Amino acid sequence: DSAPLILVLWACIGYLLGSVPFGLVITRAMGLTDPRTIGSGNIGATNVLRTGSKLAGASTLILDAVKGAVAVLLARFAAGDDSAQIAGLAAFIGHCYPVWLRFVGGKGVATFLGVMLAMIWPVGLLTCATWIAGVALTRVSSVGALTAAILSAGWAMLIGRFDAVLVIVLMTLLMIWRHRQNIARLRAGTEPRLGERP
Ligand code: G3P
Repeated sequence: DSAPLILVLWACIGYLLGSVPFGLVITRAMGLTDPRTIGSGNIGATNVLRTGSKLAGASTLILDAVKGAVAVLLARFAAGDDSAQIAGLAAFIGHCYPVWLRFVGGKGVATFLGVMLAMIWPVGLLTCATWIAGVALTRVSSVGALTAAILSAGWAMLIGRFDAVLVIVLMTLLMIWRHRQNIARLRAGTEPRLGERP
């Protein structure tokens, strides 16, 4: 029920928050290899872990999630639920396509988790649990992430939050698209396990 201009404003703020590439900020600050030059070339936590630093990987995961959560919480506090959903979606898009990196960004997993936790925390918790279980069982980051994302719209419907399904499905579709190389590697049986390089 927010005015269109307010929604646009929160889309911009969400995008800008999401576009901060913490994987690069952290690896630079810690003097590590640029993740774009190793492994999958991605700027996300999984590939930052391939620099050899668990601290850098964990920090990237947390901060990329926090920026998504902050976008949702700020927008909800200032303008309500519609703006919060738009801000979360925009943060996710900002992470995947950051203007600062000529629109070559990440795959959105951590930011998705942060957005989900802030948007509908029970669905966020279920999504995080699915992601952790998926990664723990398969030791393949992308499998856990894609499984968690695909199930999240289902969790939302299960608890009657149909209002959030569109935004969740859009994020899930974009996440699948961003994982197309991972999906090709999975089909070829060459997707590396956590901590290994492709
Ligand atoms: O967070 C992205 C993850 O699902 C896959 O990362 O580096 O193996 O492509 P990566």
